Amino acid sequence: MNGSQTGTARGAAGAALATPVLEVVGLRKQFGDHTALDGIDLTVNEGEVVAILGPSGSGKSTLVRCIDQLETIDGGAMYLDGDLLGFEQGRTLRPLTDAGVRAQRRRMSMVFQQFNLFPHWTVLRNVTEAPIAVHGVPSAQAKEAARGLLEKVGLSDKADAYPRQLSGGQQQRVAIARAVAVEPRVLLFDEPTSALDPELIDEVLQTMKALAASGRTMVVVTHEMEFAREVADRCVFMAEGRVIEDRPADEFFRAPETDRLRSFLARSMRANDERQG
Ligand SMILES: Nc1ncnc2c1ncn2[C@@H]1O[C@H](COP(=O)(O)OP(=O)(O)OP(=O)(O)O)[C@@H](O)[C@H]1O
Ligand SMILES: [Mg+2]
Repeated sequence: MNGSQTGTARGAAGAALATPVLEVVGLRKQFGDHTALDGIDLTVNEGEVVAILGPSGSGKSTLVRCIDQLETIDGGAMYLDGDLLGFEQGRTLRPLTDAGVRAQRRRMSMVFQQFNLFPHWTVLRNVTEAPIAVHGVPSAQAKEAARGLLEKVGLSDKADAYPRQLSGGQQQRVAIARAVAVEPRVLLFDEPTSALDPELIDEVLQTMKALAASGRTMVVVTHEMEFAREVADRCVFMAEGRVIEDRPADEFFRAPETDRLRSFLARSMRANDERQG
C-alpha cells in the first residue's frame, strides 16, 4: 500500500509518526454480477483528511458504506485502529454478532447527503442523543459538549430549534455536530453538500474545513474540487471499483499520472465553473 508513505499528517509531530487509523486491504464488493469494489487498498492516518473523487458509479459510496459496515463485503479486510472490522479473528474468521458490529460502528461516524435528523427532536437533543443513550455520557456533560459543538458549527442560537425551522445548510451543520459529538476515530462523509442549494454549500464546507484544521481524521466523498484541493491531505481517484490514483492533494491536481484522472479533472473543473456561472 502506498497510502502510508504518501500520507502527510499535518503538524510536525504528526508527520513524524504516521499512525494508521483506518486500513482497507483488497476490499471487494459484489452486487449480484456487478463488481462494485474490485480490490480497494486505502490507508488513512491519524489526523489525515482523504478526499475520494471519481465518476458516478465508481464505487465511492459503496466504499464508505462498507467501512461503516452498512454493507457486507465479499473479500479483503478493513481495520480500525488495528482491529479487524466485521469479523472475529480466531483460527477461522467468524462474522461478528450484531452487538459486536454495533460496538465497532460506535467508533466512527458518517455524515450523509440527506442529513437524517430526527424531526421531532430539538437540535440539542439530536446532538446529545447518541452520547447519552449509546455512549453513556452523563446528560449535563453531553449537553455542555453539544453546546460547544453547536457554537463551533455556528449554530449556538439554534439549540432549541427543530430541524424544520432550519435551512438545509444549517441542518447539515447540525448533522456534522452530531457526528462529532460521539468523538469518532474517523468521520466519513458521503457528498455532504450535494443535496444543498448552491448558496448553502460554502457554510458546510467551511465547517468541514474547521474540523479538518482541528485534527480530525476524515474520509470525504465529494465533487467539490476546490475543497479537496485546499483541505485534503490526499486525494483518491476511483473508477470502476478500483483506486486509480492515491496522491498528496497538490500533486493530484497539478500532475495527474493517468489520462483517466486528467480527463476527469478537466470535466469536473468545467462543471464547477458552469455551476458558479
Ligand atoms: N444496493 C445496490 N444494489 C445493486 N447495485 C448497487 C447498489 N448500490 C450500488 N450499486 C452499484 O454499484 C456501483 C457503485 O455504486 P456507488 O453508489 O458506490 O457509486 P458512486 O461512486 O457513489 O456514484 P455517485 O457519484 O453517483 O454517488 C454502481 O454501479 C451502482 O449501480
Ligand atoms: Mg455515491
